Amino acid sequence: MSILVSGIKPTGETHLGSYIGAMSQFLDLQDKYDSYIFVADFHALTTVQNPEKIEKNTENIILDYLAVGLDTEKVTLFKQSDVPEVTELCWIFNCITSVPYLSRAHAYKDAESKNKEVTVGTFDYPILMAADILIHDAEIVPVGTDQKQHVEYARDIASKFNRLFGETFVVPKPLILEDKGTVLGTDGKKMSKSYGNTIPLNASDEVIEKAVMSISTDSTPIEEPKKTEGDVLYQLHSFFTPQDIFVEIEKGYKEGGLGYKKSKEILIESIKEFCEPIRERRRGLEENKSEIFKSIKENGVVVREKVSKKMLDVKKKVGLSGF
Ligand code: ADP
Ligand code: TRP
Repeated sequence: MSILVSGIKPTGETHLGSYIGAMSQFLDLQDKYDSYIFVADFHALTTVQNPEKIEKNTENIILDYLAVGLDTEKVTLFKQSDVPEVTELCWIFNCITSVPYLSRAHAYKDAESKNKEVTVGTFDYPILMAADILIHDAEIVPVGTDQKQHVEYARDIASKFNRLFGETFVVPKPLILEDKGTVLGTDGKKMSKSYGNTIPLNASDEVIEKAVMSISTDSTPIEEPKKTEGDVLYQLHSFFTPQDIFVEIEKGYKEGGLGYKKSKEILIESIKEFCEPIRERRRGLEENKSEIFKSIKENGVVVREKVSKKMLDVKKKVGLSGF
């Protein structure tokens, strides 16, 4: 079986955007690939300097992975920091990557342009991510559109290492649901933990109602057609409203006759129906938390064992395997 690798940072709660862009792919592919899915806690340190938050979010993401239906018989779930070999590999990659090349990363340029004091960790973020992927010889990396450039860095770094030291790494491919694009948040920007515009997967009915009601709409009268492109409500309907009802929604938007109030009420019901079973499973999982986290820790040991073979080969190639 080919290998699949992906991860989510514990910087907040998982949300409908991370579900559509990433988690739904993990689910669809778990039967077809040898999957390694982790919580990217080393990466989270680039933006969160609060140990309690990192720990809590890490636990929540693990429970969410299981609540959405990842099957531990098929997927190896682990914590990135339980496999410190990735930081070792990151260093080796640092030494073959140039500063100008890494300066072209969108996330770095973004941070720079906001005049933030950019940390070395933020600058180096794509290299650590390349190490996460390449250390497993992953062939595919299912992610949302915003991560495409990062996977391209991993591809370039794999090719460069292979050129310099001989065939060592598989050149991975990003797997992106281009037709779904980026899920928009309640304020119309990308739904993201860092913008406070999310609808969490584990949201209560009240949170769902409040979030949907807060989505701003224009003043197009009920009878008139409404724009669908870039409309947050319409996009969320397209993901979460059952097909037979969605057909009616689409007609209402394109031909007129559907008001935003009605559209919001229907969307609230659709999202509640989607989230309820996930919440229900989460409640069950919470009861076995300590056993679950114990097995995640054990998976870390298994993954370490596996990647240490790869690291031996890499170290030999670069000249670090002598006496
Ligand atoms: P966030 O931006 O909320 O911090 P993460 O960085 O944790 O999200 O992303 C986890 C995964 O989910 C990544 O593969 C990312 O591309 C995907 N993802 C996150 N937000 C969205 C979104 N709004 N639309 C599509 N995919 C998304
Ligand atoms: N950068 C990814 C994100 O923000 C998280 C991540 C870290 C990741 N390492 C990875 C994703 C390796 C895929 C593969 O969502």
